[in-house]
Amino acid sequence: MKKVFITKDIPARGIEVLEEAGLKVIVHPEDTTLSEAELIDACQDVDLLLNVGQLPMQKSFLEACSHLKGIALASVGYDHIDLETATALGIPVSNTPDVLSGATADVAFLLMLAVSRKAFYRSREVVNDQWKGFGFTQELGVELNGKTLGILGLGRIGVELAKKAKGAYNMDIIYHNRNRNTEAEEVLDAKYVDFDELLAQSDVLSVHTNLSDETRHKFNKDVFEKMKSSAIFINTARGAIHHEGDLTDALRSGQIWGAGLDVTDPEPMSADSPLLQMSNVCVLPHIGSATIETRTAMAEMAATNLLAALHGEPMPQIVNSDIYK
Ligand code: DGY
Repeated sequence: MKKVFITKDIPARGIEVLEEAGLKVIVHPEDTTLSEAELIDACQDVDLLLNVGQLPMQKSFLEACSHLKGIALASVGYDHIDLETATALGIPVSNTPDVLSGATADVAFLLMLAVSRKAFYRSREVVNDQWKGFGFTQELGVELNGKTLGILGLGRIGVELAKKAKGAYNMDIIYHNRNRNTEAEEVLDAKYVDFDELLAQSDVLSVHTNLSDETRHKFNKDVFEKMKSSAIFINTARGAIHHEGDLTDALRSGQIWGAGLDVTDPEPMSADSPLLQMSNVCVLPHIGSATIETRTAMAEMAATNLLAALHGEPMPQIVNSDIYK
């Protein structure tokens, strides 16, 4: 009987798809993070791996598990796997694009609005019995109506956010990408700008790009200095795209106005982070895709990709398609 190892529990639908195909499914029972040695051990006797979350799969892991017939990631991001090695070893790898775009854009929108009204901080005042009663001038927020939303990485998630921002607040959309998104330019009247213009013009700047050598710590001191002092920075992509110390300094010094983060580096974020005390900062624990609908769709998609790999067919959501050349 063929076997699949799953690194964390997933919605039942994903397991059903695998079991209905006759596979034995082994789910890592605890909500703890496996070490590389434990993951290697768990994969020795299985044919397929479904990796949930950002558990790293570097060269040493892949070389020790080169017998795997396929690895499905239950995430759209694939910065946690050494794809070059997977390809060299002939292991197909899939991800879960599209199905999480709406849910993730919702969280970017939620953060944008929550930061603009200092909502999490004001809520904590109530919860911690620190609310002194109705005030007229304290901790005022800002409005989003008619402001400019800048998007770094106008792909599927960025487009979903742009639609919401345009519909709700008639925001002007500007973006910077490696390639022009002509459809978004037509449908959303989005304007392509270079990176420095994106920094200079955005009232809200939301990041929707992959983590790579090029984007690691891209939002650092030099970049925050080029943004408006009234700007709100939103990151729902990967925590390492911003430099946390530089972001903290930029907020403290008023270089930028606020920040909303669904991703941090490391995760979990240290509870001592000064960011958590700031009235103009909202932090969430990486919940972009965390809805019943989206996680069910991601689990089903990952399972379907594994079945394709098992049968020697191309994985529908392959990320290392070179493997089939
Ligand atoms: C993704 O899909 O990449 C999200 O960050 C969840 O892991």
